[in-house]
Amino acid sequence: MVQDLSDRTLEAEQVIPELVAYLQQELGKAIPVIAAGGVWDRSDIDRMLALGASGVQIGTRFITTDECDADIRYKVFHLHAQPEDVVIISSPVGMPGRALRNTFVEKAIAGSPDLDKRCLASCLHHCKCRDEQKHYCIIQVLDKAARGDIENGLIFSGSNAGRADRIIPVVELMAELVA
Ligand SMILES: Cc1cc2nc3c(=O)[nH]c(=O)nc-3n(C[C@H](O)[C@H](O)[C@H](O)COP(=O)(O)O)c2cc1C
Repeated sequence: MVQDLSDRTLEAEQVIPELVAYLQQELGKAIPVIAAGGVWDRSDIDRMLALGASGVQIGTRFITTDECDADIRYKVFHLHAQPEDVVIISSPVGMPGRALRNTFVEKAIAGSPDLDKRCLASCLHHCKCRDEQKHYCIIQVLDKAARGDIENGLIFSGSNAGRADRIIPVVELMAELVA
């Protein structure tokens, strides 16, 4: 839910220790907890590990790498993004998602009837586009963005948009992250 994004009780500092303790004490199982969302640099990784996570998942930072297979226009759009360009939109699965503001996002927020609601691939188990003809076809707009249509595509983004200043090879990024 959208309101959950600003709920302090759902922040990593709260959730990770509680979840790790629950898995160990209540379930008695060694299930690794992987922290995701807003991890950018080594200090973020160290903070998550200190909270009890066994690892981290990083998304946004890898967009501005040579190896990211999205069109160069997608990567440059991320490079030019500012933190205030990150907006919350509803996805057809019924969950909120962060995205960079563009023509598509403006239409999605406004509930524009212009958005194409044809289901292209029945890619989701729960999908309000396929089942209720609401929102938009997510695979269609993700594909548009990845192919470089940065105005009509959905450009997902983490909360750290605006921090990348150049496109770098993954080997350079990994060297920094594991240093
Ligand atoms: C471009 C992009 C695409 C993503 N696609 C998916 C997805 O298809 N399924 C999913 O579960 N999470 C997806 N995520 C969420 C990431 O898996 C990850 O948990 C989150 O982005 C990590 O936060 P960060 O981007 O701040 O590093 C995506 C994130 C981004 C930025």
